[in-house]
Amino acid sequence: MKRMLKCLVWAVPLVALAGEPQSVWLADLDLSKMSSGWGHAMANHSVTTQELTIAGAKFAQGVGVHAESVMYLQLDGAATEFTAQVGVDDHAGKGKGSVEFEILGDAGALWQSGVMKGGDVAKAVCVPLAGVKSLVLVASDGGDGHNNDHADWVEAKINFGGAKPQAVAMPAEEARILTPPAPAAPRLNGPRVYGVRPGHPLLYRIPCTGERPLKFSAQQLPAGLELDEASGIISGNVTDRTYRTYEVTLRAQNQHGTAERVFKIVVGDTLALTPPMGWNHWYTHYNRISDALMRQAADVMVSSGMADAGYQYVNIDDCWMNAKALSKYQTDPKRVGPERDAHGNIVPNAYFPDMKALTTYIHGKGLKAGTYTSPGESTCAGFGGALGHEAQDAKQFADWGFDFLKYDWCSYSRVTGKKPDLAAMQKPYRLMGDLLRQQDRDIVFNLCQYGMGDVWKWGAEVGGHCWRTAGDLGFELNRVFEVALKNAEYREYSKPGSWNDPDYIQIGMIGTQTRRGTFEMAHPCPLTPSEQYAFMALWCLSAAPLFYSGDMGQLDPFTLNVLCNPEVIDVDQDELGQCGRVIPVAKKTFVMVKDMADGSKAVGLFNRGVVPARVTAVWSELGLGGAQRVRDLWRQQELGLFEKSFEAAVPRRGGVLIRVWPAK
Ligand code: GLA
Repeated sequence: MKRMLKCLVWAVPLVALAGEPQSVWLADLDLSKMSSGWGHAMANHSVTTQELTIAGAKFAQGVGVHAESVMYLQLDGAATEFTAQVGVDDHAGKGKGSVEFEILGDAGALWQSGVMKGGDVAKAVCVPLAGVKSLVLVASDGGDGHNNDHADWVEAKINFGGAKPQAVAMPAEEARILTPPAPAAPRLNGPRVYGVRPGHPLLYRIPCTGERPLKFSAQQLPAGLELDEASGIISGNVTDRTYRTYEVTLRAQNQHGTAERVFKIVVGDTLALTPPMGWNHWYTHYNRISDALMRQAADVMVSSGMADAGYQYVNIDDCWMNAKALSKYQTDPKRVGPERDAHGNIVPNAYFPDMKALTTYIHGKGLKAGTYTSPGESTCAGFGGALGHEAQDAKQFADWGFDFLKYDWCSYSRVTGKKPDLAAMQKPYRLMGDLLRQQDRDIVFNLCQYGMGDVWKWGAEVGGHCWRTAGDLGFELNRVFEVALKNAEYREYSKPGSWNDPDYIQIGMIGTQTRRGTFEMAHPCPLTPSEQYAFMALWCLSAAPLFYSGDMGQLDPFTLNVLCNPEVIDVDQDELGQCGRVIPVAKKTFVMVKDMADGSKAVGLFNRGVVPARVTAVWSELGLGGAQRVRDLWRQQELGLFEKSFEAAVPRRGGVLIRVWPAK
């Protein structure tokens, strides 16, 4: 099928062009610069390497790609027009896929297709380009996730009079550190409330920035607890076993000043009164994890200042046990061996010579230790799971001194079959939840079953404190905004002791797990600096558990700046435990607003589009009346009073995070 297109309106007369009119096919430009949400951009083929086909019509020329896809083109202002036809490729499957095509110039949108569905006939595009220097072609998911979104730009070409258009890399963004360094005077950080079960050991390293040495003290510390005045570590067992709340005044002092704040210790049945914070090994060390790497993480959590910002848990994920045999996930003979000893006790592999010594090491720093297993016969990576040994394992984890358990469904579907009913889905979690509650120490329980059966509705009831709301974010890091928006749909279930978990923070140096089953070594994360700031802001506004999962041995100042801003972390750790409410602004922009315990609101202005946008938070839509005092949380800077709204220029795939107090 061949149809020549010509724009009806020419913005400049042809004589103004620098040279002879020429044209170039999009397919002949450097398609390695065109991103694709799945596979690769293909010249003259669909993304599945088949014939370009839209609603039965076949095309020899064009580019097949998969949403989300972006391509930046550099023009010289003397190109005249872009012409093409667009649509969803038939190879997505009958009636499947929905894509929105968009063409942007220097000043914003030039053309939008609207949402196109699989089976829709191709739409003709003709965009005048005179004067345009930067052209961006976007194919985004039609608002319903990107599955099956095979996007075709057929017969796509640019007519030009001057220099030949060039495909260019997405403009690089500078990794700017927005947050000023912590002052020399002490500043107390982290949660203001902490839950412990009666009679159980309490361990808490008071998060505090400021020049060392610091001297810590506490007023009204419950009997049975003691505070080490040099390290700020509180430990012991509250003697009185009745349920009650202690209001302790924490104080930290150095030669530059004194900081003081009230810290509530709540003796009761609820743990994780604020979202747990820490580090998890998965997205960096995968099946390479060892005792030495866990100790390194604990060391760095303290030396880097992460613990001073509130990070506490040092958590092992999969692969600490033995596997029965080598497999695609497990290629190291030193991790192969008997899964259990003669008494049925789980056996750590050769990289974990002494679990008790490891947790003792972590506890010695005032930090907490977490571990992982599966209710099935084996874990996701094929190591020994807990099936049939649940009580023994729960006791073993407690005896070893663990404070956190991630319980990962995986092979449990071999027990239930593919379509378990709700009771079958809940059964292993209820069992482990009860067992953990019977131990003589507090163990925070993390359900990992990827959101099945609307786990947010029942996770707390079966003994969980947090639950993954979706699959592995590592497989869809380019969808951080979308995953956060989805997670926010379950906001009503977010409350103290009960947290929706959209998975770990993956910034800095992180590895990649490929679908083929290989685990790549850590490399710089693919997100832009703006995306990394937005990632952290979205998680904090969502009251998500904050687990960093990058390489602690390769932390850089930018990553630490994103992870450790106490004013941003305050948004996550707020006592109310609310997950922010989303207010859509335009197609690619939204505001997220979260009520804070002091009556203020934390507000994120986000842009998930690929070009900068202005976003406005309107006070009346946020439930606010009258002038508001606005503070930029990343920059820790007062921005002044705003009468009715706050507007910000938001970078592409980025966000601005403010906190808003009534003016008086
Ligand atoms: C699953 C989980 C991940 C990680 C791996 C370990 O994929 O969702 O978070 O624990 O298993 O194998």
